Amino acid sequence: MSETLANLSSESRQFPPPEALAAAANVKAEAYEEAATDRLAFWAQQAERLTWSKTWDQVLDWSNPPFAKWFVGGELNIAYNCVDRHVEAGRGDKVAIHWEGEPGDTRTITYAELLKLVSQAANTLTDLGVGAGDRVAIYLPMIPEAAVAMLACARVGATHSVVFGGFSVSALSTRIQDADAKLVITADGGYRRGKPSALKPTVDEAVAQCPSIENVLVVRRTGQDVAWTDKDKWWHETVEQASPEHKAQPFDAEHPLFILYTSGTTGKPKGILHTTGGYLTQVSYTHNAVFDLKPETDVYWCTADIGWVTGHSYIVYGPLSNGATQVMYEGTPDTPGRDRFWQIVDKYKVSILYTAPTLIRTMMKWGDDIPAGYDLSSLRVLGSVGEPINPEAWMWYRENIGRNRTPIVDTWWQTETGGVMISPLPGVTATKPGSAMTALPGITADVVDDQAQSVPNGGGGFLVLRDPWPSMLRTIWGDDKRFIDTYWSRFGAGAGTGDEWIYFAGDGAKKDDDGALWLLGRVDDVMLVSGHNISTTEVESALVSHPSVAESAVVGATDPTTGQAIVAFVIPRGNVDTEGEAGEQLNVELRNHVAKTLGPIAKPRQIMLVPELPKTRSGKIMRRLLKDVAENRSLGDVTTLQDSAVMDLISKGMNTGK
Ligand code: WT7
Repeated sequence: MSETLANLSSESRQFPPPEALAAAANVKAEAYEEAATDRLAFWAQQAERLTWSKTWDQVLDWSNPPFAKWFVGGELNIAYNCVDRHVEAGRGDKVAIHWEGEPGDTRTITYAELLKLVSQAANTLTDLGVGAGDRVAIYLPMIPEAAVAMLACARVGATHSVVFGGFSVSALSTRIQDADAKLVITADGGYRRGKPSALKPTVDEAVAQCPSIENVLVVRRTGQDVAWTDKDKWWHETVEQASPEHKAQPFDAEHPLFILYTSGTTGKPKGILHTTGGYLTQVSYTHNAVFDLKPETDVYWCTADIGWVTGHSYIVYGPLSNGATQVMYEGTPDTPGRDRFWQIVDKYKVSILYTAPTLIRTMMKWGDDIPAGYDLSSLRVLGSVGEPINPEAWMWYRENIGRNRTPIVDTWWQTETGGVMISPLPGVTATKPGSAMTALPGITADVVDDQAQSVPNGGGGFLVLRDPWPSMLRTIWGDDKRFIDTYWSRFGAGAGTGDEWIYFAGDGAKKDDDGALWLLGRVDDVMLVSGHNISTTEVESALVSHPSVAESAVVGATDPTTGQAIVAFVIPRGNVDTEGEAGEQLNVELRNHVAKTLGPIAKPRQIMLVPELPKTRSGKIMRRLLKDVAENRSLGDVTTLQDSAVMDLISKGMNTGK
């Protein structure tokens, strides 16, 4: 990546934190220095945020790398930390969750009510023979029961494996089988795009292939008809009838809390294993630090689904351990209208909003006047996560949603890291649009070349993490070898060079002239054009910086002359004319625009104007499929695609040369 284009290094816009926010910020600049002086003492101090039944004897045991143990000998109960202790401290009447159903129904759940629900669910799990040492699959829509189910598992020491409610029978059954789960918690269905969407039939089919499942607990959400087997039990006939008294037992700091599967680009999904004490310490600390959470006054909203790690760490465990009041929304951003998000922000006076670049770009495409119609003055911190945010999308977010007042925190992390690793601090960092800036206090991130040498400012390479961190994955469930091969065998001790164990994140990154970090996407997404390394993210950002472009996806297609050639798929903004000659003109203009912004080497060979892009259900662009189109191949596996009709539209455009 040494030849990565230099344009990002020259980003000159910079936004210092608002003065009032900086003065009252939870975390000040000193934190970086404190953590650098004694990293383990720093993390031990953060662990004090939690209530432990037994204090640890050792902060970190790294004697058998890469298998870490944090807070060795310590004991705590996660659900107690997320629920009971707030009630015991007299905050039982505080709202934990403002839940907004897609059809407009609502529920308000206080911490005292949450305690009752979690205790009842914990008693039901015990009645069903589920406890420490067992696994539970959770396949639910975005309803409060999803958080309750996770917390109830944690409370009795059962390891949960949440499977995103949009996944298919085969995705669900492979995950159940890999984790050897005993119980599934599901619902009849949930609401999506204005209609009930069934979940139970998928579970029925999956469970038929999973003999390990003894019981299925079913929440009634939509009231639609469901088939019934003798394994099925209604939630309202069990949990809601159970005793609300339950005493939480402490578990070891390294007790397995959850498994969450990530698909990876090839092969069978990896079951990422997270444990108890270190995980809760880091998600609790980062939620407080990165969002500057003031639990007494803030209303926090993370728009992710509970099926992704963002939902685990920043809907359930981080916010609840901090006693936050949050909004939870069941449905899609365009139901009943494209203003649903802004309506929710206005209605609940949301002050911290955490969402994804794909949604921000979608909102950009829908037009500025939609958010302009709402009072968004309650917002004070905006967050982004999931993929690199293009500088122009960042600016749009700042101007149209933050109204030029609120800091934006672009948070880099992964399912594997458990919590945020690289991000600005809203009261400390002067941000640059599109940069995740610096590693958080207590975290050591670096960019290295293929010899594992740290690159100087201005250089690019591979993102690595140098020291173990509390919420790191402990292994891949049932596959220690794959854990080592995937993350630790590229550099350092795991690769047989050097003594240091270096975690390979799989992302390309660069340091700008000030040492700020810019994430460039997965390393598999780097193109090699006439011997130059060009990242798809950079070309996409250049395209999105053109006023006619809402969103773009770039792939490298095999080319007889240049090795790979850049092919770009572009969604024009709503008001742009793309018919006939206007379309051709725009095409030429966009190719020249990229050449001017990044240099002639980055000029796309071809630009396709398309109505939509293929995305996974978590909003990541499936470049693999676009590559198939660009190289005129038949399409590969489309099972994780959110909307399969999209590919027909794109292929059609390609064939007519449009
Ligand atoms: C990959 C991890 C973290 C929760 C959601 C995704 C990309 C994530 C950023 C960001 C640039 C980002 C990386 C990473 N990514 N956040 N702020 N800037 N890239 O979790 O599904 O495990 O994906 O998402 O490529 O490796 P995930």
